[in-house]
Amino acid sequence: MVEISKGIYYCGLHDKDRKIFDQLVPLPQGTTYNSYIVKGGLKTALIDTMYVKLRKPYIDMLSASGIVPDYIISNHAEPDHSGLIPELLEIFPNAEVLCSSKCAENLKNMLHVDAPRIREVSDGEELDLGGRRLRFIMAPWVHWPDTMFTYLAEDGFLFTCDFFGAHYTRNEVFADYTSDLAEAAKRYYSEIMMPFRSFCAKYLEKVRSMRVNMILPSHGPVYDKPEFIEKLYEDWTSPDVSRKVVIAYVSMYDNSRLMVEHLKEALAKRGVKVVLADIMDIDEGDLAMELIDAAGLVFGTSMVLTGPHPKSVYVAYLANILRPKLKFYCVVGSYGWGGKLSEPIDAMFTLTKPLKLDSVIARGKPVEEDFLKLDALADKISGLC
Ligand code: FEO
Repeated sequence: MVEISKGIYYCGLHDKDRKIFDQLVPLPQGTTYNSYIVKGGLKTALIDTMYVKLRKPYIDMLSASGIVPDYIISNHAEPDHSGLIPELLEIFPNAEVLCSSKCAENLKNMLHVDAPRIREVSDGEELDLGGRRLRFIMAPWVHWPDTMFTYLAEDGFLFTCDFFGAHYTRNEVFADYTSDLAEAAKRYYSEIMMPFRSFCAKYLEKVRSMRVNMILPSHGPVYDKPEFIEKLYEDWTSPDVSRKVVIAYVSMYDNSRLMVEHLKEALAKRGVKVVLADIMDIDEGDLAMELIDAAGLVFGTSMVLTGPHPKSVYVAYLANILRPKLKFYCVVGSYGWGGKLSEPIDAMFTLTKPLKLDSVIARGKPVEEDFLKLDALADKISGLC
């Protein structure tokens, strides 16, 4: 446990061995689950708790501190932050859980927390700890509809739970403000926050309108220079895209590979940056990060039986749910005897609605006519970027 400021403690834990988040995004260095204690003159609050995987060290740490929380503030009911609430309520029989109404619903339904132990709070409501007031700020959709921030008004400390988080374990508590940290925050943003980009932009504006001296998220380091993470979020959430295209491809007999490599060269000649990703060796985090500012996504795929390679459909599904700012997409590839290369990919775009450009599909090994069509596609893409 580390004292951040007088009477305010960091009681999070690092999970450096964790290899993947949400069974989806690889974690190069694990992650952290942050929990905080705020002591007032009269009462003590615990803000967010712990993932059950780290139950023993967390409970041992709280026990050793001798701190008895009167309140457990749950900014978000996802189990990486709320998982130990049921056990903590047994250990601290007089503690009360404070959270949003949606969070209360989730805690009751997901973790079976007893309803009488929960008090719902509303936007702007304050909790007096004695010389210190915690203000609750509803912030739905960063990450779930239940999320809220907790603001320690006197100190200008903002506890944001998932918002502004990072899968970063190189700092004990405070941020080192390195490019590695920015990369880890970007990886985190691309999966957890990008689907809610408009909400992120809205809350970023709100945070900037407040007096915030410190941002204390529930993953990654604490920012005593909030402008670092605010500026990154400003860039990622802006409506602007780069003159950049991601080509995600899979090729069975090299025909589709020849096509995407030709397209890559044609785009490079037109000044369009291309990220060529072989999706047989996909890192979903790398792909999601590249999509943050990509103008377009090109699927390069072979026909497998009667449709595109299943990994292409998977990438389309991911792109759809992550909701990047894509302006357009298209399908490029090769087939042998028949089938529909584009339609199963098209069907994935239900939430994200990029413009669909005409496909370029060759039969077997691409010929001059196919390469000319790819040049024309490069002209079209260049005009859209
Ligand atoms: Fe870190 Fe949405 O939980």
